Amino acid sequence: MAINVALLGFGVIGSGVAEVLTENKALIEQRIGREINIKYILDLREFKGHPLEHLIVHDFNVILNDPEVSVVAEMMGGSHPAYDFSKACIEAGKSVVTSNKEVVANFGAELQHLAAVHGVRYLYEASVGGGIPIIRPMMHDLQSNAIVAVNGILNGTTNYILTQMIDNGVSFEDALKDAQQKGYAERNPAADVEGLDAARKIVILAALAFGTILRPDDIHVEGITALTLDDVKVAEAFSASLKLIGHAEKQDGRVLCMVSPRIVPRSNPLAGVADVFNGVLVDANMVDRVMFYGRGAGKLPTASAVVADLIDVWQTDPASVREVVWTPATPETVADFGDYASRSVVIFRGTAENAPALSAHYGHSEVKAFPDLGLLAVMSEALSEREADALSASAPLPLVKRLRVLD
Ligand code: HSE
Repeated sequence: MAINVALLGFGVIGSGVAEVLTENKALIEQRIGREINIKYILDLREFKGHPLEHLIVHDFNVILNDPEVSVVAEMMGGSHPAYDFSKACIEAGKSVVTSNKEVVANFGAELQHLAAVHGVRYLYEASVGGGIPIIRPMMHDLQSNAIVAVNGILNGTTNYILTQMIDNGVSFEDALKDAQQKGYAERNPAADVEGLDAARKIVILAALAFGTILRPDDIHVEGITALTLDDVKVAEAFSASLKLIGHAEKQDGRVLCMVSPRIVPRSNPLAGVADVFNGVLVDANMVDRVMFYGRGAGKLPTASAVVADLIDVWQTDPASVREVVWTPATPETVADFGDYASRSVVIFRGTAENAPALSAHYGHSEVKAFPDLGLLAVMSEALSEREADALSASAPLPLVKRLRVLD
């Protein structure tokens, strides 16, 4: 019997899923041993003249009430109605796969539980890292390990913008426009450049790593809007790259999750992750370190991960799958950000004459001078956020900014 799929959303990713299912139809059908049909595509628009125009519906209830539709791919973006539609489908006994990190980060715990109760699946491989297999390896292949830390370049748009600025001297605005045209950016790219998209993704990875789900709005998040080409030059002087990093770790049994620009030494493999590519480093107690790398955004890479989930739904009996439990964070299970310790590169206004005083303030650390920029920069020892902020505020020079180092 054929498998009937409904697509919720026919934007960049939704149309990509149709393309993957059309282009690789024979291959996928041969692998799963059944025919696949896209039965409906839900979208507000008409798509006049599109080869799949006849599948467009505007009423979600057509899909919900059709017992022939056993699996739904949600690629609408935003929390509502995507969450509401996903919940209704699961309650109606349909499996749901999604690329929607906002829904997974905010409602994933509930939807996974609901799916287990109703004997269906809720899968979200495409929600983190676009086309990179990361969710399934975290859920399956790393299960024999205790995860120590996860660090990732998790937003393709900001990595593309930073690379264009660093390598090609392209302005922030032009690089963002380019990323939008290529279909990488969110509908509202503030979520990319202000770090919220990466925050949603790191809380999902932290939940898979540690079993605790934090709210993306509750973690420390800094985006790339305050970064300048001066910061790039400072990073280069320390043999490092400037990257937007999502970080999660366990500190004394509590989970810490954050997003911020970081000075990434060239010896760290994340320093070489450029353009729209994402990279995720997982440190674990048995395997040591593994890295996942690939296209973190874009139509076909992300769509290929959605279709991988569709195939998983067809190939795996839900009764054989153990429920993934994410426990909502409480003050007892979340680490205090003020205790988070890292080295920093701290940038001040000043000239070479000020270097000895600054070096003494930082325990005689090496100070680099940037005469053409009127800046001095010093690398601190590993200090807690509280100590690092106090030390930079009491320095004898005007502070420009403090950039954490990723060690
Ligand atoms: N806007 C996101 C990014 C899309 O640039 O990474 C993929 O989640």
